[in-house]
Amino acid sequence: MSVRTIFITGANGEIGHGLIHYLAEEGGIHIIAMDLVPLDKSIRAKCHRIVTGDILDSHLLESLSTEHDFDTIYHLAALLSTRAERQPDLAHRVNVDGTLNLLEIAITQSRLQGREIKFIYPSSIAVYGLPDIQKKITAGKVKETEWLHPRTMYGINKLYVELLGGYYSSYYRQLDAEPLKGRVDFRSVRFPGIISAVTLPNGGTSDFAPEMLHFAAQNKKYNCFVRKDVRIPFMTMPDAIDALRLLQKAPREKLTRQVYNVGSFNPSAEDVKNLILKSFPQAEISFIPDPKRQAILDSWPADVDDSAARLDWGWKPNYSLEDAFSQYLIPAVKQRYAK
Ligand code: SER
Repeated sequence: MSVRTIFITGANGEIGHGLIHYLAEEGGIHIIAMDLVPLDKSIRAKCHRIVTGDILDSHLLESLSTEHDFDTIYHLAALLSTRAERQPDLAHRVNVDGTLNLLEIAITQSRLQGREIKFIYPSSIAVYGLPDIQKKITAGKVKETEWLHPRTMYGINKLYVELLGGYYSSYYRQLDAEPLKGRVDFRSVRFPGIISAVTLPNGGTSDFAPEMLHFAAQNKKYNCFVRKDVRIPFMTMPDAIDALRLLQKAPREKLTRQVYNVGSFNPSAEDVKNLILKSFPQAEISFIPDPKRQAILDSWPADVDDSAARLDWGWKPNYSLEDAFSQYLIPAVKQRYAK
C-alpha cells in the first residue's frame, strides 16, 4: 500500500487532536502536523513530522511543499469567533491570508504532481446571520444558501474562504492560455458548535456548552455567558471527525456542492445544563448572560438543514443528544478528570 502524505494545519487545536488520533488508526498515512505552538505529547508520536510555525510564513509553507507531496490538506488553523472580535485585524490575516497561503500551496502541489489535491476546510454556522431572534425562531432548519449575512469577523472570514475555495477549484487563472495541470478539490463542512470530552475550545462563542460540562466534571462553579433559552446546533467531536472523514472519502461525482451543513442535535443551554445535572447533581451552573456574546449566538441559526450531506455522502451523526451525553461525553469526561 502506498503511503499518503496528509498536511494538517492547526494540528494542536481540538479538531486536530481528534483527526490525528483517527488518521493514525487508519494507517498508511504520513501526517505532517503544523501548529503555532508545540504539539501535545498525546499526538506527537502519531505524526511523521511536526512543524512549529505560522501559516502566515509563506516561506516556511513553500519549503514544506518542496519537501513533501501532499495528498490531502486539512486546513484547520483559525482564530475562532470571540477571539476574532477582540483582534479582528489579526483574525483576518490568519483566517483569510493564512488560508490563501495554503490554497497557493495546494495549487502548486497539484501542478507539480499533475493531479487533484484535496483541500478539506472546516467552515462554520457563523457564516449565517439572522437579523433577530424572531427570524431565528421562524427560520427553522437553515439551508446552505440562506441567511448568509454574518455579523462577526470570523463568520465573514469563513464565508469568504468558502468562495475562495470554489475559485481555486474551478476558476483559478481562468484567462491562462494553457489549461492548468492538476486541480484543488476543495470540500468544506459548516460545523455547528463541537463538544469534546477530551479537549476544550479556545476563543469560540459556542464554548459555553463544553465549558459547562468540563467545569462540572471538575467540580468548578460555572457562570454561563448565555441565556438559558439560547439554542444553536452542536455535535460531538467524534461525529465532527466522522464528517471530515466521510467528506474526504466521498467520490467527487457524488458531490453536488462544495460546502455542506452538518448537524446532530440542537439543545438549549438549559437542556445542556439539565443533562449535565443528571450525572453531576452537585454542579453549580448559573446563567449570567453577556449581552454582546449572546447577540452573536442570537444571529446563528437554531438548526441547520443537512439533507444535502446526508444524500450526497451519507452523513449521519452517530450520537443523538441523549446518547452523546450518556455514551460519550459523561463517561469520557469523568475518566479525563479522574486521573
Ligand atoms: N465554535 C465556533 C465558535 O464558537 C463556531 O464555529 O467560534
